[in-house]
Amino acid sequence: MNRKRIGVLISGRGSNLQALINACKRRDYPAEIVLIISNVPQAQGLLRAEAALIPTLTIDHKNFHTREAFDAALDAALNEAQVELLCNAGFLRLHTPGFVERWRDRHLNIHPSLLPAFKGLHVHERVIAAGCKISGCTVHFVRAEMDEGPIVAQAAVPVLGEDTAETLAARVLEAEHHLYPHALALVASGAVSLEDERVLDTNDQAQVPLFSPPLA
Ligand code: GRF
Repeated sequence: MNRKRIGVLISGRGSNLQALINACKRRDYPAEIVLIISNVPQAQGLLRAEAALIPTLTIDHKNFHTREAFDAALDAALNEAQVELLCNAGFLRLHTPGFVERWRDRHLNIHPSLLPAFKGLHVHERVIAAGCKISGCTVHFVRAEMDEGPIVAQAAVPVLGEDTAETLAARVLEAEHHLYPHALALVASGAVSLEDERVLDTNDQAQVPLFSPPLA
């Protein structure tokens, strides 16, 4: 099988990275992680990467005077490793438009809400404050605006009456860990493609259905 070469960008805990690492261990998975880059030297995700014997790089944004220079360093490292598809997994830097353009349609992000609702930070607090009965997570192609871009896959979870931001975050995160490997497989295998900024089944041009994570 021709596995797509994946780069992953992280800033912190790296639990989604771990879910991708685990998925890539499967022999039938259509992708392999060839490089993990953190912009934060102490990111816990770097330890997960090292434990999995995957090459890592720390590119600390604080060492760069401009966003352009930082993104150019990212780009150079990704190209050097011959990355074909890039996955943001809890990467807390906004990309420059030039970087987004260079990786256009080859660059995914995961966000802990049902986009286009609740872009940005403090998602779970805002979901609860709004009285939503359902929340979830989204994997989408990256575009220049934060948390915008064609939706590859979504999973939904209930919001319960007794939920705090922490309990809801934990329920959504569990769904994320199933959704990201699923969505990456769809893109890496070519099972879905972009048509006029919508992600459709490559064979029959149908919408990608809601993803149901396995029950805990
Ligand atoms: C996840 O909730 C992800 O959706 C968001 O940032 C968080 C990262 O968590 N973009 P982790 O680093 O993958 O554990």
